Amino acid sequence: AKAPVRVAVTGAAGQIGYALLFRIVSGEMLGRDQPVILQLLELPLERAQRALKGVMMELEDCAFPLLAGVIGTSDPKVAFRDADYALLVGARPRGRGMERSDLLQENAKIFIEQGRALDEVASRDIRVIVVGNPANTNALIAMKSASGLPRENFTSMMRLDHNRALSMLAGRAGKPVAAVERMVVWGNHSPTMYPDIRYATIEGERASDLVDAAWYKETYIPSVAKRGAAIIEARGTSSAASAANAAIAHMRDWALGTSGRWVTMGVVSDGSYGIPEGLVYGVPCTCEAGSWQRVEGLEIDAFSRQMMDRTLEELLEERDGISPLLS
Ligand code: NAI
Repeated sequence: AKAPVRVAVTGAAGQIGYALLFRIVSGEMLGRDQPVILQLLELPLERAQRALKGVMMELEDCAFPLLAGVIGTSDPKVAFRDADYALLVGARPRGRGMERSDLLQENAKIFIEQGRALDEVASRDIRVIVVGNPANTNALIAMKSASGLPRENFTSMMRLDHNRALSMLAGRAGKPVAAVERMVVWGNHSPTMYPDIRYATIEGERASDLVDAAWYKETYIPSVAKRGAAIIEARGTSSAASAANAAIAHMRDWALGTSGRWVTMGVVSDGSYGIPEGLVYGVPCTCEAGSWQRVEGLEIDAFSRQMMDRTLEELLEERDGISPLLS
C-alpha cells in the first residue's frame, strides 16, 4: 500500500471546504489507492473552530478507507507541517462597505503569513492551489512570501472558469462537453478573464467554425466571465460545489497528469505572451509527472492582445496595491 500524503486545506469549515474534503478522501483528487492525512486550518474564532469540529466528526462518520488521519487547527504552521499539497481556500470575504483596496490588504496579510508558514514547515515539493479571492494575487503573495520554495509550486485556480467555458461552448455547439479540447482562459480570475476559443476543437472540428463570431464576442465571453455573479443571483450564495470540483480537477491533473490535454492554471509567468515575468496569470498548461508546462508558441492576434492586456492591467493594479506590504 502507498504511504499517506498530507493534504492541507484552509477555510475547511466553509462552504467550498464542505464540498471538497469528502471528495479528497474518497480518492477523487489523488487516486483511489492514495491514503491521505487531512490537515485542516480555520480561523481561531470559536464559531469557526466549532464548525470545523463538526466537519471532522462527519469525516469520521464516513469511515473512509483512505483517510489516514485528520487534524484541525488554527495555526498555519501546524496545518502546513510536512504538507505535500495545500488548498488555500480560506480568505477574507468582502464585507459591506469594504473597498476593493481594503480587501486586497486584508488578504495580503493572510497570504503573507501562510506563505511564510509554508516556507518554514511544508514539504519542499508541496503543490499549492490558491482558491480564495483575489486568487491570482493571493497566490503571488504566498509565492513571494515563500522564497525557499520553487515558484512553480504556487498556482491559482482558473479551472472553474475553464470548465464554465467548456460547458457553455459545448452547449452552444450541441456537442458533448468531453469532446471539447484546447480551451484557454487567459488572465485573472475575475470578470476581466478572456476565454479564448481560437484553438479549441470539438470532435476534431474548429470550435470557431461551429459557433458564430458575434455570439462568441457579445454573449459567450461576458457570460463565462459573469457566471459567478449569476450563480450568486440564483442560489443566494456563491459557487461552492463547482468551485470544489474545479480545485479537485486542478490538483488531480497536476499530480497525475493530463495526457496532453490542455487545462487552464494560474501560474507564474516566464515573460512569454507579453505577461510580465513573475506575475500569476491564467494560461493553458499540460501536466506530466507532477509538474505543469505552459503551452508555448500560440499566436496572439490583435483582439486577443487587447483582451489579454485588459486582464493583465487589472492584475498589475492588484500587485501594485499590495507591493508595499511585500518589500
Ligand atoms: P466561506 O466563507 O463559506 O468559507 C471560507 C472559510 O474560510 C470560512 O469558514 C472562514 O472561517 C475561513 N477563513 C477565512 N480566513 C481564514 C484564514 N486566514 N485561515 C483559515 N481559514 C480562514 O467561503 P467559500 O464559499 O468557501 O469561498 C472561499 C473562497 O473561495 C472565497 O474567497 C471565494 O471568493 C473563493 N472562490 C474562488 C473561486 C475561484 O474560481 N478561484 C470560485 C469560488 C470561490
